[in-house]
Amino acid sequence: MGKKYILANWKANKTEAEAMNWLQNLLSNIDNLLFENNEIIICPPFTLLSNLKSYIIDCKLSFKLGAQDISQFEDGSYTGEVTGRMLQGLVDYVIIGHSERRKNFGETDEIVGKKVKIALKYNLIPIICVSELSQTEVLKKFLIDNSNFVILYEPLFAIGSGQADTPEDSNSMAQKIKGILPASLILYGGSVTAENVGTFIVQPLISGVGVGKASLDSGVFLQILENASKV
Ligand code: PGA
Repeated sequence: MGKKYILANWKANKTEAEAMNWLQNLLSNIDNLLFENNEIIICPPFTLLSNLKSYIIDCKLSFKLGAQDISQFEDGSYTGEVTGRMLQGLVDYVIIGHSERRKNFGETDEIVGKKVKIALKYNLIPIICVSELSQTEVLKKFLIDNSNFVILYEPLFAIGSGQADTPEDSNSMAQKIKGILPASLILYGGSVTAENVGTFIVQPLISGVGVGKASLDSGVFLQILENASKV
């Protein structure tokens, strides 16, 4: 089995002190083997990216960093936006089109597509969130041959609800997504916990998981990494 992708999406949580605490707790207990078995991607708020990046470099850690969003625009008069050029070199990945952004910030499939194009232009790997197949279909227009991208499948009912999808359903959805985008690497997200992570990881078409709430506590997240490596 190849490396598993384990993504921690902190959403709008954590101050700098809390983030450092999380990292130090995790590092004091983590077995280095977990870095070999997993691609561990931490997606903190923008405010923490620079400090976490320095920490990761100084301590020679194998974490990858991801942003939670990217502007659909290039640099310019767009107050509050963070552009691809700013993120280049700072992060490896960028989450695009999370359902919370689609719902609360009016992100349409078209905007999601523009963000994907910008991410690819700046050599960032887009982690594109989809909750239904029609959202996958639209992406064909924006992805180019050999684009390096990840699809994070998150059914709406499962996000933050404590009610995860069944592993079998997530695998059959992954099969349908691959039918539309054959090159996609597919992760499952939505109420992933230390208890259920293994059941998703063993699915043949699921390459990893996106973890929201359960990634906020370093002890729980470590348990998720450990359980993902056991299967
Ligand atoms: P959850 O969030 O793990 O809290 O359900 C997942 C996500 O929104 O990525």
